[in-house]
Amino acid sequence: MGPSITTTIKLPNATTPGATIPAIGLGTWQSPAEQVTDAVAYALSEAGYLHIDCALAYENEKAVKEGLKKSGVKREDIFITSKVWSTYLERVEECVDKILENLGIDYIDLLLIHWPIALNPNGNHPLFPTTPDGKFDIDHNHDLSKTWKAFEDVQKKGKTKHIGVSNFSEYTLLKILPTATIKPAVNQIELHPYLPQWKLLKYLESEGIVPQAYSPLGSTNSPILKDDVIVELAQKYGAEPAQIVIGWFGRSQSHFVPSFTKSMAKNIIVLPKSVTPSRILTNSKPANLSAEDIAKIDALSDNPEKAKRFIKPPWGVKVGFEDWDLA
Ligand SMILES: NC(=O)c1ccc[n+]([C@@H]2O[C@H](COP(=O)([O-])OP(=O)(O)OC[C@H]3O[C@@H](n4cnc5c(N)ncnc54)[C@H](OP(=O)(O)O)[C@@H]3O)[C@@H](O)[C@H]2O)c1
Repeated sequence: MGPSITTTIKLPNATTPGATIPAIGLGTWQSPAEQVTDAVAYALSEAGYLHIDCALAYENEKAVKEGLKKSGVKREDIFITSKVWSTYLERVEECVDKILENLGIDYIDLLLIHWPIALNPNGNHPLFPTTPDGKFDIDHNHDLSKTWKAFEDVQKKGKTKHIGVSNFSEYTLLKILPTATIKPAVNQIELHPYLPQWKLLKYLESEGIVPQAYSPLGSTNSPILKDDVIVELAQKYGAEPAQIVIGWFGRSQSHFVPSFTKSMAKNIIVLPKSVTPSRILTNSKPANLSAEDIAKIDALSDNPEKAKRFIKPPWGVKVGFEDWDLA
């Protein structure tokens, strides 16, 4: 079976034994405030979602809060993720308190370091400071292991149930893992048929870190939803292209080395974003693809013209991804 809206995935590194996370969550990046309230309410109350992916830097969390309230779904039944932005890596608890207030909640389910990049907290903008030459105002001396320690502390205080990272490669994970007393529960990274990141997934499996797929459809104006192979499969299954792509997650196994366990291969959380009710519903019902068809989608990124990363902020520092290393 592929992921379904009711599938949950175990978090092996969670400090609470048996903790799980819903396999499909609603993304909210670039969801305009005036639309995200209804999108969140619809996803939770009508489409069966129980997982919302937020971030301070999306600047729409107050509107998400209205959606959470409007849905009528109980707080304890919803899994809420948010992320500490790069200008707050030395002020983690301050950022968490802002998130809690914005979302109108008294704990977060999963708190992530949004990027392994520290930006000047006293720069020319509270979220996106730049230097006079227009580049990001990076704090090159920041020690990520200190941020992770602050994450462990906010978890111990009960302000979040789980902690994790986002946009971390093996290179940046190694900046926090050696001194971590709580390992990251998840790593939220760009993952889709054009960027399957097999090698990083294998490494995450070895550390018990569950991958979360962001931009799973290929983000705004995605060419993946128009790809001939995806469109052909959509016709074959009588489904939308997005249902084929979401169905591929959790079933994509043919490229993994033999030791990559089948169960772990299914443990990818998918975070499709939409503000359109019909699409929110469509995305909650992924296609159940055959192994043969999964393999066809697995092969797409072998084509160098297709293999691509869509989310690539011009940080100008080493991030350590195989396809993106600006060292
Ligand atoms: N951690 C990070 O750094 C990071 C980075 C990027 C994303 N994320 C998270 O991952 C989430 C998803 O990524 P994303 O927003 O970049 O992209 P995505 O979910 O891959 O794609 C969203 C785009 O696809 C459209 N869409 C959604 N469902 C569709 C369907 N069934 N048929 C056709 N088009 C459809 C949406 O349009 P409409 O909304 O207009 O319907 C929107 O333009 C984000 O919202 C965010 O929560 C995290």
